[in-house]
Amino acid sequence: MPPVLFHPEHRLWLLRGATTAYAVRLAADDSVRHVHWGAALTLDQAVELVERTSPAASSFEAMADVDELAVEGGARFGPPSLAVRFADGTRAVQWRYAGHEVDGAHLRIRLRDRHYPLEVTLHYRIPDGGDVVERWTTVANRDEAAPVTLLRCDSAAWCAPHRSDYRISHLVGGWNSEFQLRRAPVPTAETVLTSRRGMTSHHANPWLAVDDGTAGEEDGEVWTGALAWSGSWRITLHRDPVGRLTWTGGFGHEGLTWSLAPGEELETPVFAGLYSAGGFGAASRAWHEHLRRHVLSHPDETRPVLYNSWEATGFDVDEAGQMALAARAAGLGVELFVMDDGWFGARRSEHAGLGDWVPNPERFPRGLGPLAAEVRRLGMRFGLWVEPEMVNPDSDLYRAHPDWVLHMANRDRTEMRHQLVLNLARPDAAEWTHAWLDRLVAEHGIDFLKWDCNRPFTEAGWPGHADPDRLFIEHTRGVYRIMDRLRADHPGLRIEACAGGGGRADLGILARTDQVWTSDNTDAVDRIGIQHGFGQLYPAQVMGAWVTDSPNVATARRTPLRFRFHVAMAGALGIGGDLTAWTEEELKEAAELVAAYKRVRPVVQHGTAYRLRGDGTLTAVQYVRGDEHVLLAWCPTRPYGHGPAPLRLAAVHPDAVYRDLDTGATYPGAVLRHAGLALDLPPGDHASALVRLHRVG
Ligand code: DGJ
Repeated sequence: MPPVLFHPEHRLWLLRGATTAYAVRLAADDSVRHVHWGAALTLDQAVELVERTSPAASSFEAMADVDELAVEGGARFGPPSLAVRFADGTRAVQWRYAGHEVDGAHLRIRLRDRHYPLEVTLHYRIPDGGDVVERWTTVANRDEAAPVTLLRCDSAAWCAPHRSDYRISHLVGGWNSEFQLRRAPVPTAETVLTSRRGMTSHHANPWLAVDDGTAGEEDGEVWTGALAWSGSWRITLHRDPVGRLTWTGGFGHEGLTWSLAPGEELETPVFAGLYSAGGFGAASRAWHEHLRRHVLSHPDETRPVLYNSWEATGFDVDEAGQMALAARAAGLGVELFVMDDGWFGARRSEHAGLGDWVPNPERFPRGLGPLAAEVRRLGMRFGLWVEPEMVNPDSDLYRAHPDWVLHMANRDRTEMRHQLVLNLARPDAAEWTHAWLDRLVAEHGIDFLKWDCNRPFTEAGWPGHADPDRLFIEHTRGVYRIMDRLRADHPGLRIEACAGGGGRADLGILARTDQVWTSDNTDAVDRIGIQHGFGQLYPAQVMGAWVTDSPNVATARRTPLRFRFHVAMAGALGIGGDLTAWTEEELKEAAELVAAYKRVRPVVQHGTAYRLRGDGTLTAVQYVRGDEHVLLAWCPTRPYGHGPAPLRLAAVHPDAVYRDLDTGATYPGAVLRHAGLALDLPPGDHASALVRLHRVG
């Protein structure tokens, strides 16, 4: 059966995912209205749903059914998804249906304004084999002379079915505390999740999940969404007093406008939605699968164990010091050595050098060649930190091009971390940026770039440009274009997305990078919470996680090496400590733990993840790939005499038998499932376990 069905008489479309369905229809006024998002339906059943739609309750109420992309005009009082102002001041839009096309699983519904030459296409696509509905919008000004001002242009609006209550799950945080999962009732109000920072942000991640307050980790209905955009963004939820919950989202934030020139077309990023009947855990697993199949460029590649110099050296990098670290890293089994900040220009601190991307001649008198060669001789790949969107005012670049930064006439240029933002919406600045990156990568055969971005936008103006707010879109597109070009020209290049830790993680950046530096907070206890939130949407293979020194540089907490490793092993393992200060004993233990990670890595990075919550403070993640099961369990603290109860496993077959590959013990699946696995935890706080189970029958 085709993935998109059309019912001409009812003017209704049904999109069918692997286990779910999504349906929309044209109303009498030709606007596109929501019909269904949830369990699989037949076309006839979807028609039934339309016929049951009740009319508005009174002349004070909005119409009872919900727009797929609400405009202003008509009896609409919620947040519009598309708000425009025509040249004569008219704001309301009235649609006329202009046709639709189906191309495999991609449905385009075209609408035209009844009077003005404005066209909109609503795009729906369910990528093969999944239940994720990708939606986006294109808007075109077909007028030959007059521009149209776009006041808001979202990718999509979504509607949860009518339930007696609603709860939202979302991710909040800050620098060093990203991806904190919050669950709260949705107020009868408008709730805005947003970043006005010109980047995705640490403070809110463009992901949400909605349920009726009863869903659990492994049961219940969940409607969830994720925006594929790395600049400013906004998702507005609207729970109205009669009990409907909708949310509309896209790029930009309130107050920004774009002038759509005559003949111009604007395409929004994708806002993806996913319905799951299996609780938050199944929703996460479906997202992970979607990212692997349809977002990431190299999903089957196993991420290398990396070493990063930042916590060891800060800005104090030089050839000899990096070579010493590289030798020790290689001894541990590290596969990729990354030199962080401080290698270029006059970069001795945060105060100077950003923008001058040539090796510092005192620190690297022979250039980067000898270090790159030594790293390779040691059997590792070579990676480098860059921050291409930024400039210190104390730099040759800024002295030559003070107009290349975001700024406004008659306003201060607010410095954060002593730096300003290059306006990569400017073709000249973008071209220059691409050129130095391309040269650098080509000259040294760089395998890996850690692409950092350490401040948000302020005074985001573009003096002299007729439509300056456009830079909020065009800067991000500029970053995407540079990354896309570099990757096309250097197919071996891998990129890590970083913005002072996890300030830029989203489906847009992950379409052109391979992993995320999850947080600058490397404290293993804090990381358990950060990783729990990150994993709601993003799979383990993109979650950069380093083992660093104890006491931790951010929290001063002391934790055993084994605990730090076991926490970091839940993602793409890295090491970021000062290895020159590690004892022989620590180096030996670390080498053993790296080897242990390599044994479980295929299951962690490519398997299916189940979040397990034990009792007390015990949490765990179980990864499953075929017959292989890997369990990482962490118990940061426990009271005397109250060891955690055995951990009940997921995804084990009750009739099968599982062998512990390290102890040889065997367990019936039913026991693992119902009684649980008693973990062999060392005494004291910061206890952890790594268990490998293999199904043997
Ligand atoms: C912020 C990153 O998150 C750190 O890992 C490090 O690369 C610093 N920037 C360097 O300035």
